[in-house]
Amino acid sequence: MPKYFALIPAAGTGSRIGNATPKQYHPINGKPMLWHALRPFHAHPRIERIFLVLSPGDAWFAKLNRDEFSPKLEVLRCGGETRARSVLNGLREMAGRVSTDDQVLVHDAARPCLNAQSINRLIDEVADNEAGGLLAEPLADTLKRADDRDCIVRTEPREGLWRAQTPQMFRYGLLMKALGTGTLDGVTDEASAVERLGLHPLLVKSGVTNLKVTYEEDLRMAELILNSRSSHA
Ligand code: CTP
Ligand code: MG
Repeated sequence: MPKYFALIPAAGTGSRIGNATPKQYHPINGKPMLWHALRPFHAHPRIERIFLVLSPGDAWFAKLNRDEFSPKLEVLRCGGETRARSVLNGLREMAGRVSTDDQVLVHDAARPCLNAQSINRLIDEVADNEAGGLLAEPLADTLKRADDRDCIVRTEPREGLWRAQTPQMFRYGLLMKALGTGTLDGVTDEASAVERLGLHPLLVKSGVTNLKVTYEEDLRMAELILNSRSSHA
């Protein structure tokens, strides 16, 4: 039976938020964003181990109480120039401890609102799909194509368009082949690297609450989402 591993790239700087503290360490409800990203994997019985990719010079992780996540958490200080490079470096460090057929769930540290139901849905729907799959959200808004003055050129059809999220789940061997072959230019998620091999990963419907924190206002949104859950717990 394949095992399930989480791989969390957390080696970015959060330049679009533009704070001296990297975005994954911004506090949300008193805990760093990274804590919230680790929690659902740590609590999930099907996740064997969590591999966390930090930048080699990361000085913030030491302030987080890692005992809370021991012994399931393994820290890899091998982050690279881009997200794809950080993921590939992490996969290479996992070699020998993960089998080719094991499943790897790659999840952004910048998505702090993932819940156990979404992890379950991803595992249940994708486990038997050889091309892997990912959480994603069908587009709901009307799409406008703009010119360089921000005036509408036309309305674009939105049928069949989805927003890719994470986690994205693929077999270890497939991910190594997809990311380790050719250039990483233009590879913004694992699925795009797998697509280059001519494969068609499965889109598993997710919701807006699994948002990625990119800008300052997203932090407040994440806080509201997490608060609304704890008040219903
Ligand atoms: N990431 C990484 N290594 C990089 C760049 C990004 O591990 N060289 C990680 C980030 O820490 C984050 C995830 O990839 O968890 C998604 O990236 P993004 O949201 O773009 O975060 P940043 O790159 O940190 O933010 P920005 O693009 O605004 O600088
Ligand atoms: Mg980035």
